[in-house]
Amino acid sequence: MLHRPRRNRKSAVIRDMIQENHLFASNLIFPLFIVDGENQKVEVSSMPGIYRYSIDNLLREVESCMNLGLNAFDLFPAVEESLKDKYATESYKKGTLYLRAIEAVKKNFPEACVVTDVAMDPYSSDGHDGIVENGEILNDETLEVLGKMALAHAESGADIIAPSDMMDGRIGYLRTVLDENGFSNVSLMSYTAKYASAFYGPFRDALGSAPKKGDKKTYQMNPANSKEALIEAQLDSQEGADFLMVKPGLPYLDVIRLLADNFDLPIAAYNVSGEYAMLKAAISNGWLSEQVILETLMSFKRAGATSILTYHAKEVIEKGWVK
Ligand code: PBG
Repeated sequence: MLHRPRRNRKSAVIRDMIQENHLFASNLIFPLFIVDGENQKVEVSSMPGIYRYSIDNLLREVESCMNLGLNAFDLFPAVEESLKDKYATESYKKGTLYLRAIEAVKKNFPEACVVTDVAMDPYSSDGHDGIVENGEILNDETLEVLGKMALAHAESGADIIAPSDMMDGRIGYLRTVLDENGFSNVSLMSYTAKYASAFYGPFRDALGSAPKKGDKKTYQMNPANSKEALIEAQLDSQEGADFLMVKPGLPYLDVIRLLADNFDLPIAAYNVSGEYAMLKAAISNGWLSEQVILETLMSFKRAGATSILTYHAKEVIEKGWVK
């Protein structure tokens, strides 16, 4: 036999020597849920180990992550039902929970990278990412709300703004709003290929943000499509996105690879709440070993992602699996 591929697997040193992909703490973005009040730390029942934090505890959590070398955070607010309305006005009012949280993190940890989520759903009484009129999601009217929201995030100190709404034209619209207001250094991480997925279930539990009526299929993408992701990516890169994101991650590794092969922008993968819940459930039942976590995160790197948004971010570093 001339070729014996097993020779390159015969020792740990050789295996490490030829390892093609590596995962570092610097590749990870940790999503964190925020809730109003003081000294709150409430576990999300479908996401064991993941909590909603009041701002005081959020700061403690950010500090403990940064001590481990985890420096990038994506913040999501759980908004009281009474504060929600049709136009998501709570999303850009001065002094709201979310804006206070961004400010507090940046003030206490200026070197932290704060990613903020732009979409109406946590603040919408309809539970949708856009304005609902007669059962329809209005695109261009929604852009105006998103613009106000993004501006409020930038004024509060956001480093990267991540629109997760899937309205048409929002990257160009937000880029213009940010530039015209002196925020040309604030980055845009576009949820480029965001699929209408059932894997977001636990996230919607965490925030109480599920649609009151209907589904998100007129704006989020059909899970059966991949060419459509190229159309979205083309538009986002032309409109000035700094990152292209694919979401969910694991069921869409082919889409990550497709975008990585066709675009030179960094690709982010969102390893979403349902993917987290799935592994945690199997691990806690003893059906899978914890190794599946690292194997899953590595699959995003192999598929071509540079950055990974994952609820596993802190634990993989705490356990010493990622440095
Ligand atoms: C909302 C938003 C969602 C997620 C991030 N931003 C849910 C949705 O579109 O319904 C999901 C994240 C996750 O499941 O971890 N715009």
